[in-house]
Amino acid sequence: MSRSLATATAIPGNRPCCAVLPAGLDPARLPRHVAVIMDGNGRWASQRKLPRVMGHREGVEALKRTLRLCSDWGIGALTAYAFSTENWSRPGEEVSFLMTLFERVLARELQALEQEQVRIRFLGDLEQLPEGLQQLIADATHRTAANTGIHFNVCTNYGGRRELVRAAQRLAEQAASGDLDPASIDERLFEAQLFTAGESDPDLLIRTSGEQRISNFLLWQLAYAELHITDVLWPDFNEAALTAALLDYQRRQRRFGGVEPHASR
Ligand code: FPP
Repeated sequence: MSRSLATATAIPGNRPCCAVLPAGLDPARLPRHVAVIMDGNGRWASQRKLPRVMGHREGVEALKRTLRLCSDWGIGALTAYAFSTENWSRPGEEVSFLMTLFERVLARELQALEQEQVRIRFLGDLEQLPEGLQQLIADATHRTAANTGIHFNVCTNYGGRRELVRAAQRLAEQAASGDLDPASIDERLFEAQLFTAGESDPDLLIRTSGEQRISNFLLWQLAYAELHITDVLWPDFNEAALTAALLDYQRRQRRFGGVEPHASR
């Protein structure tokens, strides 16, 4: 992040947009919240006969590009799947590299995120992360909490099923202590126990590298998301690829289980 944000046209449901949108995109029908499964880093590196970790390093550049574009175009939130609860089973060297990468990137980019008014949050079981990373996360979360720009959520040691079990446990504890009537539990109360509490659900999920899976990502929150799967490997994800995803989204008719077509938004 390096360019500053100026304000111009207001897009309903989104933040004021400051940059010219690519031709063909309707500013009034942008998703409010975009989620991304950043897949294909390893394959990107293998294709170049590089170590897998070089793909992750390049993946950071793609993430920064995507965040800047979403911010410039007035999209309200970007949620990225950086490290799943299953990713611990990768070779130890790769896991260590990723943890160090998260620390370095966070330390290096925090000032720019603050200046760009990005509000960053890390979603997942953070207590299992290295101590140094936990401290950086706490600092970044605190320092950007009042920022008014894009919400940038980084899912780290995140698992959708674990998130649902955790929410159920928290509600059960409240019920057991007499603070909550089980009959009063509804979707609103349940959502309030998720890591994403307070965030709107993603309207669009983008998955790169062609795999057609959800992979334990945002199982509750993606209930009505439109899915865009592209063969582009994550490190190659760029303005053209994001534009293609948004154009695909704007071609969809969102029905939310009903029969009357709603324009995508
Ligand atoms: C999946 O590709 C990618 C990951 C598990 C890591 C993604 C992390 C980043 C892009 C870094 C983000 C950095 C910050 C600071 C948030 P893969 O390794 O599964 O690729 P493959 O399927 O080709 O093997």
